[in-house]
Amino acid sequence: MEATGIAVVTGASRGIGRAVAFELAARGFDTVATMRDPGDGAELLDEAERAKATLRVAALDVTRPETIDLPEGLRVLVNNAAVEKPHLPFEETPIGLWREMFEANVFGLIEVTRRAIPLLRAGGGGVLCNITSSSMFAPVPFYAAYRAGKAAVSAIGESLRTELAPFGIRVVEIVPGPIDTDMLRSSAEPPDALRYEPYRPMAERTHEGRLGIADMITPASEAAAAIVDAILDDDAPLRSGCDPLGRGLLDAWRGASDEEMMRNMLGTWVEPQP
Ligand SMILES: NC(=O)c1ccc[n+]([C@@H]2O[C@H](COP(=O)([O-])OP(=O)(O)OC[C@H]3O[C@@H](n4cnc5c(N)ncnc54)[C@H](OP(=O)(O)O)[C@@H]3O)[C@@H](O)[C@H]2O)c1
Repeated sequence: MEATGIAVVTGASRGIGRAVAFELAARGFDTVATMRDPGDGAELLDEAERAKATLRVAALDVTRPETIDLPEGLRVLVNNAAVEKPHLPFEETPIGLWREMFEANVFGLIEVTRRAIPLLRAGGGGVLCNITSSSMFAPVPFYAAYRAGKAAVSAIGESLRTELAPFGIRVVEIVPGPIDTDMLRSSAEPPDALRYEPYRPMAERTHEGRLGIADMITPASEAAAAIVDAILDDDAPLRSGCDPLGRGLLDAWRGASDEEMMRNMLGTWVEPQP
């Protein structure tokens, strides 16, 4: 597609969303960087102005439908906003934590998307880009709630890829690996699961695994460039990575059976029994 018309990004106050909003504007889209608190967009606005890119900031909280006001002429929607909560053993994860995570990462995304579709159809098509996570391909213990939300978005995208094709709306899903953002930085802290004695050995292993990827972290600007490449590429597959580790996990998932994948995971996270 041509980089013209309006692009909207959710969760553009920081991290990947901010970088994607800037990149879309730099490539030529009339970009609306949406965020919960528009005051957080001041630096992004300055940066866009210096680059002579067309970008504005608008308030949008994906969990508050009354704030979702998408513009006519919409051609690209990037569903990026998401939250991460403490990763606890499943039996210790309160249902309220699942609800909070699903409220933003799934139901919020559904409502924004539902409202975007008629606008995209009215304009003769466009791109719907969902940011999920390559953690779906590496079933890390204690990540069930986060991964389940992302898997739900992934399934929604699969159905919409077909359902919206007749209207010229292309659905793409990006599966980031470790990208240098606040969300990733917080995952370097000792995991909350360490507090639960029966799960301590596994939590220690996952923490070591997390620290072991320190030299595989990709800057958000690089990830954003790859995301916008996929948005612009009419031949882009449903799923793309935006960094080396995410691409590697996607390829490994495509090449392995689910049993092989689970055997690898058990070998990685479960201590051998005597
Ligand atoms: N970084 C990674 O390594 C990584 C890996 C895999 C997938 N991802 C995915 O990539 C996307 C971006 O993550 P990130 O790393 O950039 O995270 P981040 O630095 O934590 O930024 C998250 C963004 O989402 C916004 N947000 C949260 N709740 C919202 C709501 N209810 N309404 C609107 N915006 C909301 C935040 O806004 P506030 O500033 O108001 O909090 C912030 O702008 C997410 O979908 C995440 O799951 C990231």
